[in-house]
Amino acid sequence: MKSHQQQQHHHHHQKGATSLFPKWHVINTFSYFFLFACGVAAGVFLNSYLKNVSFDLHLTKFSISPSPSPPTTSATHNNTTAAAAVGGGCENRQEKIVVEVPVPVLPPPPPPAGRVGLSEYLKVAAEAMHDMEEEELLWRASMVAKVKEYPFPRVPKVAFLFLTKGPMLMAPMWELFFKGNQGLYSIYIHSSPSYVASPDESPLFRARRIPSQGKFNMVEAERRLLANALLDVANQRFVLLSEACIPLFNFSTVYDYLINSNQSFLGSIDDPHPMGRGRYNKRMQPELTLADWRKGSQWFEVHRRVAVQMVSDIKYYPILTKHCKPPTVLHG
Ligand SMILES: *[C@@H]1O[C@H](CO)[C@@H](O)[C@H](O)[C@H]1NC(C)=O
Ligand SMILES: *[C@@H]1O[C@H](CO)[C@@H](O)[C@H](O)[C@H]1NC(C)=O
Ligand SMILES: *[C@@H]1O[C@H](CO)[C@@H](O)[C@H](O)[C@H]1NC(C)=O
Ligand SMILES: *[C@@H]1O[C@H](CO)[C@@H](O)[C@H](O)[C@H]1NC(C)=O
Repeated sequence: MKSHQQQQHHHHHQKGATSLFPKWHVINTFSYFFLFACGVAAGVFLNSYLKNVSFDLHLTKFSISPSPSPPTTSATHNNTTAAAAVGGGCENRQEKIVVEVPVPVLPPPPPPAGRVGLSEYLKVAAEAMHDMEEEELLWRASMVAKVKEYPFPRVPKVAFLFLTKGPMLMAPMWELFFKGNQGLYSIYIHSSPSYVASPDESPLFRARRIPSQGKFNMVEAERRLLANALLDVANQRFVLLSEACIPLFNFSTVYDYLINSNQSFLGSIDDPHPMGRGRYNKRMQPELTLADWRKGSQWFEVHRRVAVQMVSDIKYYPILTKHCKPPTVLHG
């Protein structure tokens, strides 16, 4: 009822906006143009001003000491602000602000390169490692473009997610499998945090390890694997595998089958045994009822659409972590 009203209201609002649109459009265009012009003027002015300042600064510095270490803008600002906030006193603050004046030593602008374009801009680093926190990673991975058509040619990839305890024993087999198919797949490995990869690991898996958290939790590891793979917009299908898995078909067969499918492949059984319904806890109500309860295989293969749902779930995952022990149920 409430949401219906809201929708109606929203709709009404939109209609109003549409009829106003032509007028707004003109005003907006004009004001944008005006702002843009102001921006350009301000930019030109500031640019020449700052250049002069930094030039002067260098001169004074050179006269004092022959090899000055250039102060970085953020560090000084950071310290100054902190000092002002802590000090509180007026005299104190004035002193500090005087210190802040000679800051603008700007780094030289990077040399103009060719057009980067969106597909280059979206490219992820060659190494899978990053230092995002769990929450940051999941948030970033849950982003979905509202416009469904990609504005650049996108070759969909299959992401192979390896959840392993130790070394990739089947690496030679996977090397044969992936050979000659570069650009059609990506690999991510989450290994047990206690495992240290040997330096002569297969090049296929080197640098494809994703950061793991201190304690090993299967579901969180799966979510992290999915989230890391989602950062690459080219990944379309997500296969979860263990180090004991081997490919049964050649790459082109697997790739064609998965890319041309609109389904996801997940286990889902209503198991009356202790390992099934026995794990259900009444405290999960009303969000989760026994009728919703399914047991599934930990291994899955999902479409990007479902992978996004899995990493962006903030409703069920906390309930399961709290009431389903040991936490091995992934709700997707
Ligand atoms: C910040 O200021 C303190 C003293 O107030 C100094 O010891 C420290 O090195 C400064 N840090 C930076 C990053 O400038
Ligand atoms: C200085 O900045 C860093 C990061 O830019 C921040 O972590 C730190 O808390 C700041 N320190 C103060 C005293 O504001
Ligand atoms: C992959 O396997 C299929 C069926 O077994 C076969 O038709 C195809 O030629 C194979 N592709 C390659 C690249 O070997
Ligand atoms: C794929 O499945 C989704 C939902 O399951 C549906 O909305 C979409 O239309 C399907 N696309 C095709 C091409 O069948």
